[in-house]
Order: sequence, then C-alpha cells, then structure tokens
Amino acid sequence: MNKLRIGVLVSGRGSNLQAIIDNIAQGSLSVELAVVISDQADAFALERARTHGIPAVHVSAKGYRGRRDDYDATLVQELRKHRVELVVLAGFMRIITPTLLKAFPRQVLNIHPALLPSFPGLHVQKAALEHGVKFSGCTVHFVDEGMDTGPIIIQAVVPVLDNDTEDTLSARILKQEHKIYSRAIQFFAEGRLRVEGRTVRVSGGADKSGEYLTNP
Ligand code: GRF
Repeated sequence: MNKLRIGVLVSGRGSNLQAIIDNIAQGSLSVELAVVISDQADAFALERARTHGIPAVHVSAKGYRGRRDDYDATLVQELRKHRVELVVLAGFMRIITPTLLKAFPRQVLNIHPALLPSFPGLHVQKAALEHGVKFSGCTVHFVDEGMDTGPIIIQAVVPVLDNDTEDTLSARILKQEHKIYSRAIQFFAEGRLRVEGRTVRVSGGADKSGEYLTNP
C-alpha cells in the first residue's frame, strides 16, 4: 500500500521534524516524508532534512509583504509538486491563510506547546508559569482559520513544578511533543480520525476513563 505523503513546514530548529524522521526510521510512524519547506533559509530543520536525503526547500517570504495569500499559493504549488497529502506544521512561524486551508481541507495539522484552549499564541510557557497552573502540556490539532483554535486530536499533560523556569517547562513539554505528533500523524494515516463539529473522534482509541493525575 502507498504510504501517506506528508509535507512538514518549519521555521527553526526542527526538533519535532527530527522526532518524525526518527519515528519513521524506527517503524512506529508509517508515512513518506515528501518534502520539508521553510520560510527561513538558515532553519536548522532544513539541514536535518538534507542530512536524511529528504527534499528541503526554502520558500522566502521576501517580495510577499502584505500578500500572505500569495505566499501560501506558492507553498501550495510546492506541496503539490511533491504530491503532499497531509501538511504538518512544526514550528512554522507564519499564520496560515484560507488559500492553504482550502487547498488542503482538514489536511493541515499543528502542534502547540500548551493545553489548548488555554494559552494560545506565543510565549505560552511564560504565560502558564505566570498563571500558576499545576499542569501544562501540548496539543496536536487540525488547523482552522483561527489562531490555535482547530479541533483537538491529542493532548499530553505534564506537571508544572515549583522551581520550573520557562526552559525546564519547555523541555518537559517538548519531550511529549516528540511522541504525540507522530501518534496523531499515524492516526491520520490510518484513517482513524473523524471530525464531528469541534470534536475529533479517534476510532479504536483506548478507554482511559479510570485515569487521573494530581499535582501536587
Ligand atoms: C514547538 O514547541 C512547537 O510546539 C511549536 O514550535 C516549537 C517548534 O520546535 N509550535 P521545533 O522547531 O520542532 O524544535
């Protein structure tokens, strides 16, 4: 059977991309990494892709000022060229427009380092610490036209500790990001996700109704 072809959009270091590459290599994620695209020429994520022989493309945003739709149309062209079937945002620091979403309806995923709908946007670990929450975590969701608002596929929870800094909390969350993103992509690849309104149903999911966490 042909494997689902994914395109990963990145802007920076690409640790989530690396986790996807590693999970494919280990066999827990069964997809084809068709292309990695960045808006930043020097994104380390592009380097990671090249190291693994994955097509790595820089699509500069220069010349697209105030024309986000046109930029996204260029992205769509590039994604189509590589026959991408699922778009995976992994630290892509641009807002996606309807142009991309219409080209890939319910086929764009994002990962966010907080338990949405709490703490959308940027600097979220700082916001979580300032708020004094006892748990944080990460969320993989379908992308819609809002900012971090799309239907939630999977979340992982981590405790927030008294002596946490932004860095220590980020690191604890990132470790979970590296697991749940691949899990969500694998669910998608297996055709196990069904969106009903805001709710994503995962067929064959485990019953975790007896589980809970407390902190402290
Ligand atoms: C991650 O924290 C992710 O949740 C957020 O951007 C960061 C990307 O990190 N969307 P990396 O480039 O994958 O290391």
